[in-house]
Amino acid sequence: MTPDLDYLIRIAKIAGDILMDGYLQKHEIYHKGRIDLVTEMDKRSESFLLGEITRDFPDHSIITEESGFLSGNEDHRWFIDPLDGTSNYAHGVPLFSVTIAYAYQGALTLAVTLDPTRSHCFSAEREQGAYLNERPIHISKTEELVDAMLVTGFPYDMENPNGNNLDNFSSFMSHAQSIRRLGSAAIDLAYVAAGWFDGYWEMGIHAWDIAAGSLLVKEAGGMVTDLQGNADFFKSPYALIAANPVIHAKILEVLQANQHGYD
Ligand code: IPD
Repeated sequence: MTPDLDYLIRIAKIAGDILMDGYLQKHEIYHKGRIDLVTEMDKRSESFLLGEITRDFPDHSIITEESGFLSGNEDHRWFIDPLDGTSNYAHGVPLFSVTIAYAYQGALTLAVTLDPTRSHCFSAEREQGAYLNERPIHISKTEELVDAMLVTGFPYDMENPNGNNLDNFSSFMSHAQSIRRLGSAAIDLAYVAAGWFDGYWEMGIHAWDIAAGSLLVKEAGGMVTDLQGNADFFKSPYALIAANPVIHAKILEVLQANQHGYD
């Protein structure tokens, strides 16, 4: 049995309600690393999503941020971040999401990124376009970096000078119109799909952060590759560029001048 987009939207919205119930409350905060946080609400949202998916699709495999890998049929694979933007959430900043993707036989097929603070539900189905709530969305038409608003993120391991993204950030500051760092890669990619941001790049990211967002961008007419421009970006070490093809080429050029892969 395979899920449909309505199923992903329904469970993402309930998980979003769970996050909103706990929003601005006092949290139990645990550290996965020096600056990598997890709250009891990441776990509560994840436990709801896993409960639904394992009950309705018991043979499927799942990759999820807090519980890791749940083995099963590899033809049916789910990617879940029950709370993307945990640091924002823990500080009370209203920029976080639930992001869920489903891949059939290795191809990302269904995607939902839900921002419960704004009731923004971004969704996409392979070859069926991308939507914000009921409205179709499209990648931006910007062609010059000097007109482009870009977005990026930073890995939790900032000690690695080849992978901490600081030099790339600094280069784009002198090429782009502006750069934002929102703190939820899933929302970053959804906003690229909506044409609100003109491009995104990031390294040291995880499959669950970018699975839904990469399908959203492609279905909105965008191009997604790794930092070398290869189309098979969905593999470790996860790193990507997402934009319309013209801005994509310009982002790639700046990154290649800095000659950084993530290692
Ligand atoms: C993080 C966010 C952030 C990105 C980090 C991610 P989390 O996910 O998506 O924007 O820069 O690399 O790990 O920890 O909030 O689920």
